[in-house]
Amino acid sequence: MAAFTVAIDGPAAAGKGTIGRVVAARFGFQHLDTGLLYRAVGAKGGDPVSSARSLTAEDLSRSDLRSMEAGQAASRVALIPEVRAALVEFQRRFARAEGGAVLDGRDIGTVICPEAEVKLYVTASPEVRAHRRWLEVGGSEAQVLAEVRERDARDMGRADAPLRAAADAVVIDTSAMTIDAAVERACSVIAARFRI
Ligand code: DC
Repeated sequence: MAAFTVAIDGPAAAGKGTIGRVVAARFGFQHLDTGLLYRAVGAKGGDPVSSARSLTAEDLSRSDLRSMEAGQAASRVALIPEVRAALVEFQRRFARAEGGAVLDGRDIGTVICPEAEVKLYVTASPEVRAHRRWLEVGGSEAQVLAEVRERDARDMGRADAPLRAAADAVVIDTSAMTIDAAVERACSVIAARFRI
């Protein structure tokens, strides 16, 4: 079968990771959460450019990559064009994996895989995303909302590969949707274009 790529972009806690996982399982595609690459670079410390160029499987399996702090650190190293450049080839190779691939991130449909067969932009209001994240991490919901807004501003405002929907992306706003409904919507978009 020819390669088939699903690109999923969107801001933090919009549901793209869950959608990516379920879609991959349902269609038998490989799945890459590209945020993990940036989280691993941020968590490794030292010079971010050298870290990005020498990332190992071990760096990607650290248990502390899912924290809010790791997300903020990732968003900061993601501003550096040389860090982004060091991670492009790995992502593009993954995208052409035999049997199909789904990648989720911020710039997959716009920069990494502009030729992806399916592009989804998964979003939700900052308040809804902060509430979901707060249910997972606890603490002060106002603080979580402030962090969500800070990360959005950095990811959307950066000069290199800012977060935005590709012109040909299907937008799924999950603000008033259950995760199951969002997954079903994504699967129906993909099923319409994926014929074995
Ligand atoms: O999806 P995530 O929350 O794990 O991503 C963490 C940070 O990594 C995000 O705030 C910005 C950066 N990132 C990026 O710049 N490009 C991607 N394709 C994925 C993540």
